[in-house]
Amino acid sequence: MAVAQTITEVRTLVADARHSGRTVGLVPTMGALHLGHRALIEAARRGTGYVVVSIFVNPTQFAPGEDLSRYPRTFEADLELCTASGADVVFAPEVGEMYPAGALGTYVEVADLGGVLEGASRPGHFRGVATVVMKLFGMVGPDVAFFGAKDYQQQLLIRRMVRDLNVPVRIDTEPTVREPDGLAMSSRNRYLSAPERQAATVLHRALQVGRAAVDAGERDADRVRQIIAETIGLEPLAALETVDLVDAETLAPAHRVEPGRRVVALLAVRVGPARLIDNAWMSE
Ligand code: PAJ
Repeated sequence: MAVAQTITEVRTLVADARHSGRTVGLVPTMGALHLGHRALIEAARRGTGYVVVSIFVNPTQFAPGEDLSRYPRTFEADLELCTASGADVVFAPEVGEMYPAGALGTYVEVADLGGVLEGASRPGHFRGVATVVMKLFGMVGPDVAFFGAKDYQQQLLIRRMVRDLNVPVRIDTEPTVREPDGLAMSSRNRYLSAPERQAATVLHRALQVGRAAVDAGERDADRVRQIIAETIGLEPLAALETVDLVDAETLAPAHRVEPGRRVVALLAVRVGPARLIDNAWMSE
């Protein structure tokens, strides 16, 4: 497996792969890789001929006061995971390679999907995400890019960006990979103490309780929201930030939940030092 630190290096490698007739897959990450990332790399391995994994902790998607400075960095272990999962190259640029002039003059703003939900809780976050992903697309030129359903709004926003700007890349979304007790794998789980780690299982549990209510006939989205919030409230180490039931395509608030209507519940919960997110289908 190759490691590229500059845009020129990664472009040369990708051009060579294309020359030999291979399609190109890109898995954008911020490192601190876990089995969720691994599943994306393996999907890229199955679906494309040349697999690029980018590792870049993107400063522009962190608001002041967020966890940029303490975001976990485990580069050596990341390289091992990438090798074991079948990546062909890790692209790990320095901040100065990605943002040579400091601030950019051009940003990608996905107007409607970027300002709501996570975008309202974290102003500027999705502008940073969309911009860096667009830059990565420009640097690598993948045929297919792989994202996780764990970040539901993010993959929807990238799909919208690609459609609106006619970027010739297909977006593949892979299911959320979970720990055996249901906790969604996340680089931020490393922030948790043992009791907090235990408490963090409440996110998935609460979503399941919400889904069970729908399956038992509950049709009122507000009531389902309340049930999820109450379940989070039972866990003393967890503090609910937001819970929303939304249309799976538009992210507009859902009022009714019923079979045939695609409704997703999106959850953000603070557990100790970590802000954790998760989501689940309430109806589809
Ligand atoms: P990061 O949090 O490192 O996640 C990289 C990719 O892995 C994202 O597509 C995310 O949805 C996916 N992922 C994370 N946890 C997962 C899990 N448990 N199961 C399946 N997939 C999972 O998301 C980002 O980085 C950044 O915003 C990025 C897109 C790289 C732009 O900087």
